[in-house]
Amino acid sequence: MPGTVEDVDAPSASDVLRRCRELVRPALVDAVGRLHPWTGEMAAYALGWSDTAGTLEPGGSEGKGVRQALAVLGAEAVGADAACAVPGAVAVELVHTFSLLHDDVMDADALRRRRPAVWKAYGTGPAVLAGDALLARAVTGLAGTPGDHAAAAVRRLCDALNDLVAGQAEDLRFEHRPWDGPGAVGPEEYRSMAEGKTGALLGCALALGAVLGGAPEPTVAALDRAGRHLGLAFQAVDDILGIWGDPATTGKPVHADLHRGKKTHPVLAALAGGSRAARELGTLLASSRPTDAAAERVASLVEEAGGRAATRGEARRHLDAARYALRATPLTRTAARELDVLFAGLADRVM
Ligand code: IPE
Ligand code: MG
Ligand code: MG
Repeated sequence: MPGTVEDVDAPSASDVLRRCRELVRPALVDAVGRLHPWTGEMAAYALGWSDTAGTLEPGGSEGKGVRQALAVLGAEAVGADAACAVPGAVAVELVHTFSLLHDDVMDADALRRRRPAVWKAYGTGPAVLAGDALLARAVTGLAGTPGDHAAAAVRRLCDALNDLVAGQAEDLRFEHRPWDGPGAVGPEEYRSMAEGKTGALLGCALALGAVLGGAPEPTVAALDRAGRHLGLAFQAVDDILGIWGDPATTGKPVHADLHRGKKTHPVLAALAGGSRAARELGTLLASSRPTDAAAERVASLVEEAGGRAATRGEARRHLDAARYALRATPLTRTAARELDVLFAGLADRVM
């Protein structure tokens, strides 16, 4: 509630992210330093630490570090010391970086965080290899976690990886599915795809912190659920930004999803509306993959048919569900409040 004493002390989402990045940074640098020098250079580039000449580039294209923060807060939320989450935080950050490297190859997206994607800068083969290296390092590092929780943590990470790969498979297959008729992608199929490709790792990040902190299974499961809902909210926002985002802000190309026939939430929701705009949209999409000019028209029709508003609603519902899952779980007060601030900040990008 605004104006209460509690809120006066609450850190902002960027404060929370910064604190967690600083805590995890030495271990992340160490993990990248253990890679072969070439894959290590590509990893450092992908992480936004250096340019293609391997020269340090402080800060410029670094990600927010959401997943590492979730791992840290997951441990703190169950009353454990943040330090025990660090191997989990490193693992999810490396897996996230790997998944983006490969995703840009799969989606043929040449731009990521305002710079050429790794495959554009180094070539497709090397980018695939750098992704493999990051994945292998993530699993190796987590398996080496001291204490009793390494095996459970690795199992959780591998479960999330399987879901992520399944989500990516659906995402790619949906490109070739029709927009309407019996073969069209239904809302439940979209949800399962988005939960897999984006929600699984966010859920895993929070859950890993709790696993490494020795939390009981119901608490771990509730945190995983919260992270998955956050991922669905996040993906809805990402889908919106893919159509109406400003590349200067997102650092990614706009309309790429439309050009590739990606089955994103705003377009699916617009088509489901049945309005005049929805019918015109259906006809336009059925004729061919939109060119640059047609993509502008598609974007306006999606808006007119209510797709953007519906997707905002979807993001809000999943954000609420994520916050509810947190509130329904016994968590330490400070970490629960920081998670709430972080969740709100992340979905806020288009609200
Ligand atoms: C990316 O999904 C999911 C993974 C990297 C596993 P998208 O393809 O929708 O995300 P962006 O828009 O390229 O970041
Ligand atoms: Mg992509
Ligand atoms: Mg993709």
